[in-house]
Amino acid sequence: MAKASQLKSKCMKCEEKCGKGKASPEVLNQLEAGFAKLSNSDSVSMLKRFLTREVLDKCKQKKTSFGSTLLDCIQSGLENLDSGIGVYAADPECYEVFNELFDPIIEEYHNFKKTDKQPTTDWGNVGLLGNLDPKGEFVLSTRVRCCRTIKGYPFNPCMTEENYKDIESQGQNVLNSLSGELSGTYIPLKGMSKDVQQTLINDHYLFKEGDRFLQAANAFRYWPAGRGIFFNKNKTFLVWLCEEDHLRIMTMQPGGNVGDVYNRLVTAVNEIQKKITFVTDRRLGYLTFCPTNLGTTIRASVHIKLPTLSKNMDQFKILADKYHLQIRGGAGEHSDSADGIYDLSNKRRLGLTEFQCIKQMYDGITELIKTEKAAKR
Ligand code: ARG
Repeated sequence: MAKASQLKSKCMKCEEKCGKGKASPEVLNQLEAGFAKLSNSDSVSMLKRFLTREVLDKCKQKKTSFGSTLLDCIQSGLENLDSGIGVYAADPECYEVFNELFDPIIEEYHNFKKTDKQPTTDWGNVGLLGNLDPKGEFVLSTRVRCCRTIKGYPFNPCMTEENYKDIESQGQNVLNSLSGELSGTYIPLKGMSKDVQQTLINDHYLFKEGDRFLQAANAFRYWPAGRGIFFNKNKTFLVWLCEEDHLRIMTMQPGGNVGDVYNRLVTAVNEIQKKITFVTDRRLGYLTFCPTNLGTTIRASVHIKLPTLSKNMDQFKILADKYHLQIRGGAGEHSDSADGIYDLSNKRRLGLTEFQCIKQMYDGITELIKTEKAAKR
């Protein structure tokens, strides 16, 4: 395991542990202008709440050894005042170099204090999970994903075209070596026909293009270089390369068999990890571009129809909160529900084990289905 601090060199100019050099006058000007705009706005983002004058002054001069500044981390939130969070780590070191900003965000979002530590990976007893909905009345499909960062590379805002191509070729090599149920095909986004791309998006296999939060975070440079999708024959195991994270590894299938989907993910991740070294931090677990994904990086979700419960959205949200579930629309993040189909997933992923994440989703959905059945009567 590599600690973020091991990746960092001491700054020669300011004798602080802040990487090489200092932010340029241009960056400082932009930070001040952005801060003024944010302060005068009615934004309720975490960036607005936690970027105080004091935090700005502590962070504004600093640079990581990859050359990232505070501006690289907050530009998405400065542009998108309606962000929930508004902050991305420009490279893995940012979590430590700009900890005055990241720590309170992580603490509030994940309920994870500065002194807390991510437990070591524990996939748990995979055999304990079964089918949430054996009769197929409620759950349309199940999906579990995790994110991984390849050691030695920054995140999107600092990645060169070369970095994108390297990660793609490393990823592709490993994925092409997988066998059995996991063997499949890699399709680069470059050269993919618009028809194929749109069909993959509509069927919930491929990432959408043009997310304005990622756009403003500078995550779309050199697009579509390095980006692509790998999937097995049945499209029950998929990997995205160089979208929001270096790798997004996921398994999915129709119906509610969480056991099968989780089992396949654990096998796939273990196989991939035999061949690529990913960045972990002793405190924060697996490091990701967005602070919401730290820790296990696990997002386990179902597409589900709960017609009675979702009639009253306020009640539905209270119930979801009770079981630590996040509600999204059926077409992914920032989408509304079409036909009463919701995407429900575990909200917590830092400070608990992989198994605990999946178990929270499993237990929560079990309870929601029980409540739906009782309410229908
Ligand atoms: N940056 C956006 C916001 O703060 C999205 C955050 C979570 N989503 C994500 N895909 N990482 O609202």
